[in-house]
Parts: sequence; structure tokens; C-alpha cells
Amino acid sequence: MTQRPAQDRHTPVLLARVVELLAPALAEPGAVYVDGTLGMGGHAEAILRACPRARAVGIDRDPQALELAGRRLAIFADRFTPVAARYDEIDTVLAGLGLSAAQAVLLDLGVSSLQLDEDDRGFAYRVDAPLDMRMDPALPMTAADILNTYEAAGLTDILRRYGEERFAGKISRAIVAERASGPFTTSARLVDLLRRVIPAAARAKSGHPAKRTFQALRIEVNGELAGLAAALPRAIEACAPGGRVAVLSYHSLEDRMVKKVFAAGATSSAPPGLPVELPEHRPYLRSLTRGTQTPTEAEVAHNPRAASARLRAIERTAATPPGRAAALAEAAWAQARRGVGGHGVPDRGVPDRGAPNRGIPDRGMPGRVDWVGGMDRYGASSTNEAFQEGRR
Ligand SMILES: C[S@@+](CC[C@H](N)C(=O)[O-])C[C@H]1O[C@@H](n2cnc3c(N)ncnc32)[C@H](O)[C@@H]1O
Repeated sequence: MTQRPAQDRHTPVLLARVVELLAPALAEPGAVYVDGTLGMGGHAEAILRACPRARAVGIDRDPQALELAGRRLAIFADRFTPVAARYDEIDTVLAGLGLSAAQAVLLDLGVSSLQLDEDDRGFAYRVDAPLDMRMDPALPMTAADILNTYEAAGLTDILRRYGEERFAGKISRAIVAERASGPFTTSARLVDLLRRVIPAAARAKSGHPAKRTFQALRIEVNGELAGLAAALPRAIEACAPGGRVAVLSYHSLEDRMVKKVFAAGATSSAPPGLPVELPEHRPYLRSLTRGTQTPTEAEVAHNPRAASARLRAIERTAATPPGRAAALAEAAWAQARRGVGGHGVPDRGVPDRGAPNRGIPDRGMPGRVDWVGGMDRYGASSTNEAFQEGRR
């Protein structure tokens, strides 16, 4: 790992707005801010500066990120606690620190510039590097393992769902044929294959031929949608009433899930036609963002990697009525299953704790292909490409 300090390696997205949304919940002495995606610590540092009486718990699954952000935030001494964990473990992390609740939680999803800029992490397609893509090096499966072991049908499924790749079937068959002459190890061979397989006309229109496949592999390796589905309800439940949760998404699969989950708590669950709304049906979340908020053109010009960011935030206005937490968790999993289809998310019910996010190997294709509605509203793989462009 190169030794550039954390603050030089990643520009935090929508920084002022995130601070503005979360700071009101962090005014009291000892208020707890949980940064579920600590990364290079940019958002965490801004929150700690803006909220001098709050403390921050910084979670990341990437040990390199924790080390660099830990150095950056050491100036805050006992106001900052780094924790190596997944963000869906927020409740056990808090309990382990003896904290009963958080007052604010941030999830800034996706890869950090650190992960993209370190060639040996294997996230970048513009250099020939090992096909790894694990955010946590302890995960059992790399991108190369997927390419070398998944059946063609499984490969097609993830390329279609996570990459919105029109040529998913063709690419998958080519991968299976290619690996007969030796396993995939580094990215150049995959990129060459994609250049051969994707027709020139399509390449001219839709950017770098590898962008959608790389995004799909990354999401599969890291179990990203399953992890988010598990995390969102737990982040909300971890917040005390008055607490706030903000999520920065970078593609529509993530943003749709955030939207569904927030809406499940921010709208009445009363069946239509009831004369009186019983307390258990009342909304217990309040949207702070009215839809999504996006970076300005000036921010994108300065930081192209912000291009596809969408911010949503809610305030928890009351304790969760009985049964509503389960409904909210089911909303998250329903959305995840639409985007996942059998690779990291069980087909029925909310999975056991710890089940998601493990990078589960292919167990064959689910019967249905229940794609979430065609093309990404703000451009398939747009973040992936903006991030990769940012390398040049
Ligand atoms: C976009 S970066 C966050 C950048 C950060 N907000 C900053 O200002 O520097 C996302 C980070 O989340 C981490 N991450 C992704 N999925 C995670 C998960 N399920 N649990 C914990 N950390 C995760 C990644 O390792 C990465 O460091």
C-alpha cells in the first residue's frame, strides 16, 4: 500500500449536506455517530469537527481503510473508535462498545478511491492487475474465483442483474470457453475478451467494455446488496428516537432498496379505509431529503467520482411500533431478492444473522429473472466508470 495520507486519497461526496443533515442529532454531549463506511475518514472528520461533543464509531471491512483513517482521526483521541466489521453488524458493534444506541448513522456505499487506486486490489480495469476485488481480504471468494467456477448461467445472471450488461449471455459463454485453456488470474485477459465479445457498435455507445462486468463482479464478490438489505433495518433500529440515518448510493439497485426501506417506516401501514389510524400503523420515520439529493455540477467537475451519488436521509421520530421492524426488514430483503436472485440472498424470508455478505458460490440459477425494471435511471455502472475515469 502506498503511504499517501487518507485525506489525499478520497474526496468525500456531498460532504456539507451530509454534515448538515446529521449534525442536529449530534449536539448533546456523548452523542454517538456511527460511520458504517469509514473509508478514508472524510465524512467522519467533518462530523467530528462540526459536532465537538459527539463521538464517532468508524466501521469498515477493509483493514487498509481502517489503518489510514485511524491515522487521520487519531487527533480526535477518545472521540473516535475504529472497528473492523461489516456495517450490517452495527448493533453488535455498538453493544460491544457498551453503547445502547446511536444518534446518527452514515452509509456511504461503494468502493473508495483507495480500493480503486491500489492496483493489487483488482478493482480497476484500466491496468492489468490480479482479479481480486475483495473489500475485506478475508472474504472467501475473489473475482477470479467467480470467473473460474461459476456456471455460464450463474455468470449471465450476475452480469445482467448487477451490471445491466446487454451481452451477458455472450460474455458468459466466452468466459467459460476461455477458461478451458487456463484459469483467469489478472484483468487484462478478461478485458481483452470483453473487447472481442462486445460488438464494436455497442462499445462506441456505452463506454468502456469492461465497466459493467467489473461492477457486477465487485457486487457479487462483496455481497453488496445482501449486506445493505441486512444493514438498513439494523441501522434504523440502532438509532434512538430523534436519531438520523443518511445513505449515499451510487447505483439504482442500492438506491431503490434505500427508498423502499425508508418509505416502509415513513408511511402509514394502516389498511386503506380504516376510520382511525391506530398507533402501531403510524409512521415512525420522517424523510429529511424528499426524494434524493445529488451533487452540484461544480462538485462533479471537481470530483467526477461523485457523479452518480444519490443521498437519502431520515429521522426516526418514534420508537418502532410492534411488528414494523420485521416489515421493514422484509421490504429490504424483497428488494434485494429482486436484484440478487439466488447468489447471496435466500429466496424466502429474512436470512439468519451473518448469512449475507459472505460471497456465496453459485448454486445454480433461480428459475425466475425478475429484473428491477430495465436500465438504471442514472446510467448503468455510471459510478464504476466515473471512478475508473478518475484514475486517469
Ligand atoms: C465510498 S467509501 C467511504 C468513504 C468515506 N465516506 C470517506 O469520506 O472517506 C466506502 C467504504 O465502505 C467500506 N465498505 C463497503 N461495504 C462495507 C460493509 N458491508 N461493511 C463495512 N464497510 C464496508 C469500503 O471498504 C470502503 O472503505
